[in-house]
Parts: sequence; structure tokens; C-alpha cells
Amino acid sequence: MTGTCANALVVDDDPEIIQVLAECLGQEDDLNIYTATSAIEATNMLSAHRVDVLVADLYLGEGSSGVDIIRRAKELNPETVSIMITGYPTLETAVSLLKLGGFDFFVKPFELNAVRGAVRRGLDRLRLTRENMRLREQVAISRLMQAVGSTVELDEILEMVIGTALRELSADAASILLKDETGNGLELRGLDGRVADQNDAEFLYGRDDLSRTVLLTGSPKILDRGQFDMFENSPGESPSCVYISQPLLAKGAVIGILNLVRQGQIADLTEGAFRSAGLVAGQAAVAIENARLYKNLHSAYLDTIASLANAIEIRDSYTRGHTDRVRLAAEAIATKLGWDSDRLFDLWMCCTLHDVGKIGVPDRILNKPGKLTDEEFRIMRTHPVIGAKIVEDVPFLGPALPYILYHHERWDGAGYPEGLKGEDIPIEGRILSVADTFDAIISDRPYRKGGPIERAVDELKLHAGTQFDPEIVEAFLELLSEHNLTWLPSNPE
Ligand SMILES: [Fe+2]
Repeated sequence: MTGTCANALVVDDDPEIIQVLAECLGQEDDLNIYTATSAIEATNMLSAHRVDVLVADLYLGEGSSGVDIIRRAKELNPETVSIMITGYPTLETAVSLLKLGGFDFFVKPFELNAVRGAVRRGLDRLRLTRENMRLREQVAISRLMQAVGSTVELDEILEMVIGTALRELSADAASILLKDETGNGLELRGLDGRVADQNDAEFLYGRDDLSRTVLLTGSPKILDRGQFDMFENSPGESPSCVYISQPLLAKGAVIGILNLVRQGQIADLTEGAFRSAGLVAGQAAVAIENARLYKNLHSAYLDTIASLANAIEIRDSYTRGHTDRVRLAAEAIATKLGWDSDRLFDLWMCCTLHDVGKIGVPDRILNKPGKLTDEEFRIMRTHPVIGAKIVEDVPFLGPALPYILYHHERWDGAGYPEGLKGEDIPIEGRILSVADTFDAIISDRPYRKGGPIERAVDELKLHAGTQFDPEIVEAFLELLSEHNLTWLPSNPE
């Protein structure tokens, strides 16, 4: 073994044989030798130490058999390299050893170096198996980490975890159950693979004691079909299989369960495979928890925007319908310009906030039922900068800044607050400027009734290239002629 020492247990009821075997095997530098002269002593040793190599005599006296010791060792550590020695070789004994996955078999009197050679080969095989398992485990986990890192959508994460379980953990079927809203029950959130019988289905759906135990204890459980006696399944009807139930633990709390069905027997399942299932479950739990946190954060983000938007609407009665229509118009333009869904989402949320700075404009100016004086105009024109100050220190409101700050800039540079010109004006501001002006013309204001759509269209055409980005005006007019602005009272022909 590389790096760490392996443990060997030599079991024989003849102290002389134990002594020579222990001395011979003791020459291996990377081997700790334990000895036992009876089945009871050997069983205690197996419980007390992790045994990598077991060299056991078939006959241990008082009706005890080395086969039982090998079986026990395999139960505790399926990877154990088992070597049997006997003075009375029979075919039955050899078959028993083979069935248990025994590594080698020696007949007394044996060559000491031959046994030592078998132990060496067994250790080398064990090392390779573990290295392969570790590699496979790392690949599985790294693939899962890569995959789940690419999304915060819970359903996508669950699908990826199930896929990883089927591909990398050699599961025939897998399911994920998450705690329901009451926190007491489980609900099935993901399922895939082949289900052989009712046992598999009940297990995967979490309708059994095993899932409830894992949920309560937070410890993984493993059972084979034979131990799963809640269904009357005739032995031999279905292939033997193993049920693995891994808790999904996030910050020490069980948030759900990953259930795996694998063909074979528990004895065939290496410790590495079991550990891999645990690592995948651990990674899955972190990703699921992150997706939930993101969803909560996202809700908080939407709530914050809604609160701010509400604060403007309370102050300025005109804003309510206006904001919704401007948002619809801006979204239609951006869609026509080919924006992707993420940018459209930002637009949808942030357009609502474009006049948030009006919170800082006095009521007498905001709701004045007449034309504003020059001084009042000066104050009104501070609203983009006030709005930017309101959101600038809130990182998740960052995408709203260009809408807030630049929706009163003009294509010819005569706008405010910065007097930017042409394409120096962020596209968000240019789109919003067209949508905002169009709706301002057709909307009722405290001091006048809204104008007809035809007048708004004429204004856009007249000021394309001076006040507005001509390409955006063109896109907007196309939308109008295509009757794609369906919320408008009527469209010009
Ligand atoms: Fe504005």
C-alpha cells in the first residue's frame, strides 16, 4: 500500500503456525500484523481493527470455521483480501471461498513465501482498486460540481444529480426526495432509471421505513433486497439488488434523501462506491440549498423593487399606468433588437424604477396642475441623479442604473443629467427615452389630457436623430405598424 500501512489478521488455532506466518508477513514494511487463535478472538479483532488482509485457517476448533471469519470480514469491509489455509482441502471448501470472493487458497504444508507473495499481490490489487475508486469518485464529483455550478434552477440541479447517480455511481435507478413544506414529510422531486419491482418503487418513492429512518437520523442506510421484507416478493423473481439511502445534509440539517438502487449484493459494493454516493449526496445538498437561497434572494430583490416602485406611485398618481406602459414598450423594442432573456429580465424589473428619483422632488412640483417654471424644471431634472443615488449602493439594483440615470439624455447631446451624445448614451437610456416620451404624449397629465397616438408618432419621427436614437425610433414605429403594442387603445394605420 502506498503512504499508509495496511492491517493483516492471521487466524489459526495452532500458535506455531501463527508465529511463523506473522514473522514472515512481518517482513513486509507496510503491513501491521494482528493474530488470533480462535473464532471469537478473530471476530473481536475484526470489530476493533480495519482488516485489509485476512489469512485464516479453515478449521479453528470447536466447530468454528475460517469461512465464517472471512464472511464476517467481508461484511465489515467488502474490500478485504481473504486468503484461506487448510490441512484438509475439499471441493466444497474451495467453492465456499470462491463464493465469498476469496483471493487465494493454500494447503498445509505451505510455502511461507508463497503465502507472503499472495498477500503482496492482494495488497497491490487493493491499492489499485482504491486508486481507481478514488479517481472515479473525483471524476464523478467534479462533473457534478461543474454541472450544478452552471445553474441555480432547482429542477435542473435535481435532474443533474439523478443523472450523475445513474452514470457515475452505477445506479440502476435513483430518486431525490425533499422535505415538504411541513418539514415532516418527504416529496418526490426527481426519479429516473429502471425499476424492477414493487420493492424498488416503494423505496424510490420513499414510502418505507428506511427513508423515514434516514430522515430522522441523518445517517446513510444500506440494505439488500433480502432485508427488504415489507413486500411479499418471491425470492428469485427479481435480481438481487442493494438499496442505498443517503441523507442530503445542508448545514447539519437533513433537507432530503438521495435513494439509489443498484444491482448486486452489499458484499459487492466497495467502501469507495458507498463513499462516492455520500459525496454526491453532499454536493447535491449544497447545490439544492444554494438554489433555495438564490430563490429567496431573488424574491427579496423583486420585493425591494416592488416597494420602491410603490413608493413612487404613492407620490405621483400619473406614474402608475405610465410605468407599466413604458415597460411594455421598452420590452417590445429590446426584444425586436434581439436582447437575450437575462437582459430582458433586467429591463422588465429596472424600467419600473426609472423615475424612482421623483421621490426627492417636492409634491408641489411633481403634481403641479400647470406648466413648471424654470426653477421647478431645474428641480424636476434632478430626478435621474437622485434616483441613481438611491440605488447605487445596492449591488443587485446595479442593472437599474442606466435606465434611471440616462432616460432623459438626448441623441444630440442636449439632454440631462450628463449631456451624453449618440451611442455614448447607454442603450438602456436610449430605448427608455423613446418609450417614455411616446407614452408621456399619449397620457393624461395633471395639467392636460393625453394626445392621440398619431401625434406621438409624429413627434418621434420629427425628433429621430436629434432627441432620439433613429434606429430605436425605427424599431418602435415598426412595432406600431405591426400592431405589436397591443396595450395601446388603438394603433395608427
Ligand atoms: Fe424621468
